[in-house]
Amino acid sequence: MTELSNDEARETFAESSPAVRSTEVTGGAALCVSPTCPENALIYFSRGGTSMWNDGEKLREPGNTTRLAAVLSQILNNDGIIGEIPVYRVFPKVPYPDDVAEAQNRNFAEQDSGELPPLANLPATALSHASEESTSSPQSLPDLSACEVLLLGFPIWGDAVPRVIDTFLQSSNIGDAFILPFCTWSMSPSHINIEGTLGMLAPEATIGVPLIIRGEDVDDENDTTTAHDWLASAGLVN
Ligand SMILES: Cc1cc2nc3c(=O)[nH]c(=O)nc-3n(C[C@H](O)[C@H](O)[C@H](O)COP(=O)(O)O)c2cc1C
Repeated sequence: MTELSNDEARETFAESSPAVRSTEVTGGAALCVSPTCPENALIYFSRGGTSMWNDGEKLREPGNTTRLAAVLSQILNNDGIIGEIPVYRVFPKVPYPDDVAEAQNRNFAEQDSGELPPLANLPATALSHASEESTSSPQSLPDLSACEVLLLGFPIWGDAVPRVIDTFLQSSNIGDAFILPFCTWSMSPSHINIEGTLGMLAPEATIGVPLIIRGEDVDDENDTTTAHDWLASAGLVN
């Protein structure tokens, strides 16, 4: 697969259907078709709770990916050119254990067996933003058939994309959207092939260059700049 920068990826995506996408690409405000069928969306998975933290563990509630989702949605809502972004969180039907080792064991088992863990939430209503309150309980996920830009967030698990993201993408009706992945990690993000994995799960989509931030650094001041620059490279903020 040829590696494209986010600018190039968005250009390719825009050229594929210029009539539909011109407002976003040229900087006009794009409104959601409806709250349940958004044109742009931010969807993420975060386990949170007891988290790997440097050489030990730390309680992180909300989790690192939830925090990063909140930073991104705030930047988009303040400075974005695609209008207010609806935010959704993917919840597994059976929550992952709070114990890190137990969660790792379950993840390895799912990776080894190829199991698709069922989700607690499937199509319907949007959340307006990723506040602590709004991300604490299962919410329905939207119809993605009209989705043009999807920011998709998750932690790195077992050097891979968590299996709940596979479940989500395989059960969603996402088509030729522009998917911008963002993820958090704690040990090493170097072995993961995010573009390849998401490309297989959403074959019609264009996958942008991922934002990859260490969980321990998510709350740092500088990460707002990193997140802002990444959104700007994708043409989503000025
Ligand atoms: C089951 C599990 C597997 C993990 N595997 C990895 C890994 O392979 N590489 C890595 O860098 N971090 C790994 N981590 C650390 C998480 O990616 C990191 O703590 C992340 O920021 C957690 O996000 P959350 O708080 O949104 O759940 C793993 C954590 C868990 C719970």
